[in-house]
Amino acid sequence: MLYVVVFTTSSILLSVSYRFSPFHPLASYPGPRSWWISDLQLVHLAMSGKRHQKLHQLHMQYGPIVRVGHNTLSINSLSSLNPLYGPALSMEKSDMYRLPGHRDVMSLFFKQDLDLHNERKQIWTKGLSASATKNYIPFIEQRTWELASYIERRQAASKEDATSLSECFSHWSYDLLALMAKGDSERLVLTGKKGMVAIESKAMVKYSAISAAMMHKRIKLNNDTSIRDLSSYLLEESLSGKSIPLPDLEVEAATALFGGGDTIAGILSMVFFYLLSHPQYYKQLYDVLRAEFSDPMEHLEGSRLVGIPFLGGVIDEALRLQAAFYFPRIVPPGGVTIDGSFIPEGTIVAVASYSQQIDPKNFYPDPLEFRPERWLPGGLGPDTKTDRNALLSFSMGHHVCVGKALAYQQLQYVIARLVLSFDMSFPESFDKEAFCNGILNKRTVILEKPLLVRVTRRPGAEIPDLK
Ligand code: HEM
Repeated sequence: MLYVVVFTTSSILLSVSYRFSPFHPLASYPGPRSWWISDLQLVHLAMSGKRHQKLHQLHMQYGPIVRVGHNTLSINSLSSLNPLYGPALSMEKSDMYRLPGHRDVMSLFFKQDLDLHNERKQIWTKGLSASATKNYIPFIEQRTWELASYIERRQAASKEDATSLSECFSHWSYDLLALMAKGDSERLVLTGKKGMVAIESKAMVKYSAISAAMMHKRIKLNNDTSIRDLSSYLLEESLSGKSIPLPDLEVEAATALFGGGDTIAGILSMVFFYLLSHPQYYKQLYDVLRAEFSDPMEHLEGSRLVGIPFLGGVIDEALRLQAAFYFPRIVPPGGVTIDGSFIPEGTIVAVASYSQQIDPKNFYPDPLEFRPERWLPGGLGPDTKTDRNALLSFSMGHHVCVGKALAYQQLQYVIARLVLSFDMSFPESFDKEAFCNGILNKRTVILEKPLLVRVTRRPGAEIPDLK
């Protein structure tokens, strides 16, 4: 027994001393030494929701490449993007992307062999292609009218004459994703059901169980759905001629709901938070929308929404400031050289996407401010820098978000519909500082505090009454 204790203790001590020794392959990289013992600091930071800010502070202190774990480097450099995420090295996702419980299941988001990943991605891409998502438009439209009605109803029922826009978005996006992924949904927005487990509990385990049950229900429907949904594509023969096993389908369902629903809801809330914090931009957006759509009730054609640069600028600016995620990869055999620094094989590397998205070299002036005009021709004046390559909200390369086009389409539509329908402001009870402190950056934007708003219907906006 004593032998075991002595052996274990000396192995741990040896391993820890090695991590601090000049013989460690990452010894030449600076960083906070207490972080080199293990990856616990990084895990703790990820859970805090403030990882992006802490990593940014470390880059300010230590420079462009910082050792943030015993085998992990954070890299704050635009020129690192191609080697880290581009096709030349095809770096694999790190173990952070293993499925909870290390289940032997293939699902697009999680860590996979690249060939398998490519094959599954082709199916998802078909299900989210422009021709497939065209079918969703009438549903997006109808569900967004329901959202507008729901916002009014909830405000009317509230004591302080205000409503939680973030909760409304959460229910709306869940409804829409459930419809697009699995042909129908519980219609949270229509029923106004509160305390809904999948939404309220962010626990991935419960989330997975619920989406698995939805997938079982969807399989029973066969093709008897109101819409040719994403599951129709997944349920058809996969490209190699084999059908996708049930456990894979269950996890794909969770990926669609979590990856496609919560992300949109979080960004929508942030868009409205910024617009209402800068009422001049809310007004400017209303004016440009009214210039394009003279009747606030008219069909909001996607091609016309895309053609409104200020709307695009508002979305990209909210993504830039709030959607900066962490994408760790493993350096392949042979290592990689970034900006003249050699990084050995097996090292975990990730770009500091938040630092890039607020770097004055990429976004200037006022890189920390919400200034949607920076994305327009002429930007913020002759010295403007707006480098679209540094906007990493959807990642890039092999693992780029497969729902990116659909996400933009939904964001454009719902923002336009709500701005055309309502004048909005914060109620007196809204605590901006507490709201900002409660913005967490995890795999998506999570809000600890509700985004409280007060809406007033605009003249001419006849929102269908869905009571
Ligand atoms: C504003 C909305 C969205 C944002 C900001 C977003 C962001 C991202 C990011 C950053 C990744 C890469 C994650 C990583 O490598 O760690 C990703 C991947 C993914 N996203 Fe999205 N996403 C959004 C909407 C959607 C939608 C609407 C869907 C589908 C319905 C979707 C489905 C996926 C899937 C399946 C992946 C995995 C892709 C792969 O690994 O090949 N996302 N998303």
